[in-house]
Amino acid sequence: MSSLVNNLLDMARLESGVVELNRQWQPLEEVVGSALRAVRSTIAGHHIKVDLPEHFLLLEFDVATIERVLSNLLENGAQYTPIGSTISIGAAPGDRGHLQIGVEDNGPGIAVGKENDIFKNFERGKKDSAALGVCLGLAICRAIVDAHGGSIRVEGRAGGGARFVFSIPRGLPPVVDLTADDAVEQRITP
Ligand SMILES: Nc1ncnc2c1ncn2[C@@H]1O[C@H](COP(=O)(O)OP(=O)(O)OP(=O)(O)O)[C@@H](O)[C@H]1O
Ligand SMILES: [Mg+2]
Repeated sequence: MSSLVNNLLDMARLESGVVELNRQWQPLEEVVGSALRAVRSTIAGHHIKVDLPEHFLLLEFDVATIERVLSNLLENGAQYTPIGSTISIGAAPGDRGHLQIGVEDNGPGIAVGKENDIFKNFERGKKDSAALGVCLGLAICRAIVDAHGGSIRVEGRAGGGARFVFSIPRGLPPVVDLTADDAVEQRITP
């Protein structure tokens, strides 16, 4: 219920344009960890694999909303696949200085032709699928990723299952001014 309420509130804020992103430099692995904790009861029956290469983990993003994107994708991965299936989280460099973050599962996947519709408000992948939510999760993911200047899509996996990929700009690393430290070092060097 709390994730439903949070999604409804987020959607209202995003649609009214009052969302202000609080972008900070932070390690991707931390937000992945907090999203995994937030949905731990939903994903308890699934295998989770996290594979985040270390050298591009630091990037500039709004932690609260990116945590929501990851939790929605993880919850979907757990809700629409059988117990015991695997959900994997990975990251890779994308184009135009973006980082691509992927959440994939080995469940039934998305029906062909539905790949765009599922990102719309109140749109279910299969009309007859059990009503697990109000179909806002992916619309919110898209609005949040768009607000970051990135994009989100779904693709089929070679071995079956759905692979959601979103990209966000890595941002320009902060410039570290070494002159002050150099000066100290020069003073203490005999
Ligand atoms: N990993 C997945 N595998 C198969 N189908 C999926 C997956 N993720 C999403 N879908 C399909 O996309 C639809 C839209 O997902 P979305 O997260 O937007 O809404 P929801 O899960 O139905 O409700 P909410 O997330 O608002 O509680 C789902 O109803 C489901 O049919
Ligand atoms: Mg959902």
